[in-house]
Amino acid sequence: MTPDFLQLCQQRKSVRAFLPDPVSDEDWQYIMQCVNLAPSAVNFQPWHFYIVQDAHQLSLLQACYPREWFATAPACIIACKDCETQWVRREDGKAHGDIDVAIAVEHLCLAAAERGLGTCWVCNFSVSQLAETFPLPLHHQPVALIPIGHPVSDDANPIKKRKSLDEIITFL
Ligand SMILES: Cc1cc2nc3c(=O)[nH]c(=O)nc-3n(C[C@H](O)[C@H](O)[C@H](O)COP(=O)(O)O)c2cc1C
Repeated sequence: MTPDFLQLCQQRKSVRAFLPDPVSDEDWQYIMQCVNLAPSAVNFQPWHFYIVQDAHQLSLLQACYPREWFATAPACIIACKDCETQWVRREDGKAHGDIDVAIAVEHLCLAAAERGLGTCWVCNFSVSQLAETFPLPLHHQPVALIPIGHPVSDDANPIKKRKSLDEIITFL
């Protein structure tokens, strides 16, 4: 049964232990369609997603964030912002590409969770090593690496505590 949105939000958590099984073509199609429907400033869609599944390319990518758990993922996405097409607010020059990519990536993570797949945001990767290893077009700036795959088990991927609603909301 399809979970309601609250259940899906509860189901989505950072997964840091993956089985070796690959992500199926159907899952990729579904997940990337959800990504493609993400909103973006002025609908500029300033993003590009590199899907890394080849074992050699994966090991090169995993070296950019050398953690044992990260190397267990059977696939990983390099989520990039397109610096040439992002919307920049004229009044203060604020570029919105990071916000747009973050929304698209969270669509990805939620869609994956709905399909029973695990993901984890990774931003603490070596930017310089990634640039050296994967010479992407310069306007494609990596924002996050998203390992994706079937989670080992719920126990291996605990749920994090959250602040109370009182702490994060002020009604004005
Ligand atoms: C922007 C961003 C960057 C993150 N970078 C990393 C990272 O480099 N390594 C990591 O293990 N987790 C990373 N995380 C995952 C967070 O630690 C995790 O989302 C948070 O602890 C809440 O846990 P949950 O995702 O299981 O709810 C990142 C999350 C976000 C949103």
